[in-house]
Formats: sequence, C-alpha cells, structure tokens
Amino acid sequence: MLANRPKTKILVDGGDPSETLRMKSLIGFVDGQTTNPSLIAKNPEIQRLIASGHRLSSQEEKDEYKKIVQSISPLVGDAGVSIEVFADVGTRAEEMVAQGQEMFSWIPNAYVKYPCTHEGLRAAQMSVHKSIRVNMTLCFSQEQAAAVYAATQGSKEPVYVSPFVGRLDDRGEEGMDLVRNIKKMYERGDGHVHVLAASIRNVNQLLCSFALGAELATVPTKVLDEWAATSFPMPDQDFRYQGADASGQLLKSIPYKALDLNLPWESFDIAHELTTKGIQKFVADFQSTLRRSA
Ligand code: G3P
Repeated sequence: MLANRPKTKILVDGGDPSETLRMKSLIGFVDGQTTNPSLIAKNPEIQRLIASGHRLSSQEEKDEYKKIVQSISPLVGDAGVSIEVFADVGTRAEEMVAQGQEMFSWIPNAYVKYPCTHEGLRAAQMSVHKSIRVNMTLCFSQEQAAAVYAATQGSKEPVYVSPFVGRLDDRGEEGMDLVRNIKKMYERGDGHVHVLAASIRNVNQLLCSFALGAELATVPTKVLDEWAATSFPMPDQDFRYQGADASGQLLKSIPYKALDLNLPWESFDIAHELTTKGIQKFVADFQSTLRRSA
C-alpha cells in the first residue's frame, strides 16, 4: 500500500467496478474515477452481453452505465465519479445538459463530462448555474482550458479540465507541456478550475503530474499496477520528465501562451482536431454496443 499520499488526487480511468475495488486494496484508497463511452463499452458485463449476441437499446446502455457508476460511487473518495454525456459533433448544448442533469442524479458524487467544444462549453456554463459539477474532457490546447475557466467562472464547486497527455504524445507533441502550461496560466486565476491529467500511459507521466502539481490524475489500472509493482516511486527534487515516441525520438515541445482568463470564453479559438476525433471515437465505441435500430 502507498505510505505517503501525494497531493495530486488519484482517479481510476476505467469502467469496471471490480477493478476499482482491486485498486483500492492495492493502493489503500482511490480518490475518484473517470469513465467515458469507450471505457463503458469495454465493461465485462457489457462485453458478455455482446459476446452472447445481445445488442443493447439506448435505454439499456444508459441503464448499464447507471448501474456501473452506482457500483463505483461508494468505493471512491471526494474526487467523485465522472460520467460522460453521449454527444456527437452535432449535439446541442441543451441536449447535453438534459443528459447531464439526469446523470448527475444517478449518484451523490457525480461530475458530468462535456467535451471542450463550443456546445460543450455552453453546456458547462448552463450546468454550473444549476450547481451541476462538471469535468471538461478532450482538452488538447491551452485556449480550450482558458475557455473552460472563463465559461465556468462563479462555479461554487471545483470544475475539472482534463488535458489528454497520451494522445498529444501519439502525434509527436509533448503532452505533459500542456498540463504545465495550463497550471502556469491558472496561477493568475481564482483556483476554481482543477487540472486533471488524463490519457496517462505510463508511470513517468503520473510522476510528472505530481511534480507539476496537477490537482488530479486519472490513471488506467495497468499503469497503477506498474506503479505499485515498483513500490510507488515519487518524484524528487531532481525529477525531470522527457517524453519520447516509440522509436525514442524526443517529442515536440508545446510553447506557453499568455492568454487573458478574463476575456469572454467565446473569444478563444477552441477548435482542435483531436477533440473532434475523440468525440467520433467515443460515438463509434458507444454505437458498437447498440442495436442497429436503437
Ligand atoms: O481519461 C482519458 C482516457 O480515458 C483516454 O485515454 O489512452 O484512450 O487516450 P486514452
């Protein structure tokens, strides 16, 4: 078990309650959990249904999702369980909020995930006014994080923003730089947005999230297993992080931008190709579990 708890809250990135329980006994605690449509589609119960030839209706899929998060909810600490709305690139904010409101009622510690798009930000703005906690997902740029800050100003609850480290690495960019840049930008803010390092692929990225002071990190069980197997190393004063691609080539650094957090959120250029691709992948994985007519 982990002797000294890091300041960064540790969340399990997954959709299987039995794995959350396993991580809880391995580490001694789990602060929270993040889920998404791809992770839910991989849930063993859903996979078992599909293997037996069953395809779910949209309602059944939603019921399964609810059951899964209700099992996870009591296992985790105050970082809560993030539940993602089913949104395609054309889904309107009002539709996302209607889903978000329902999902928020499933468990007492829910965070509703919306994408870092124009409609997702509108949905977040409406949600915080209704006291719905939000986690802004698929964040790939500092502009998106600035817009999250501006759109959710005044929120009574902490808002999460989730920079996706590994997916930036995948295209040769240093994903950890995005976490570093957002943390630096938020130093001038009021602290209402917490940085949740996501799409973590290895132990070094987890340690770097600690070193950068990310408020939270969501981690696949495979990486938590590796961290435990090496007796939970922690970054020391000399810790330096340098990402590399599969061939050992160093990743391209992402420069810091001086952005004004007090500007209206609509003024930031939030478009990002990886956000669009991420939404499309979630939709495809979600639909793979559904009946054709559902
Ligand atoms: O928390 C985000 C995560 O689920 C996405 O991870 O590995 O699919 O980029 P990955």
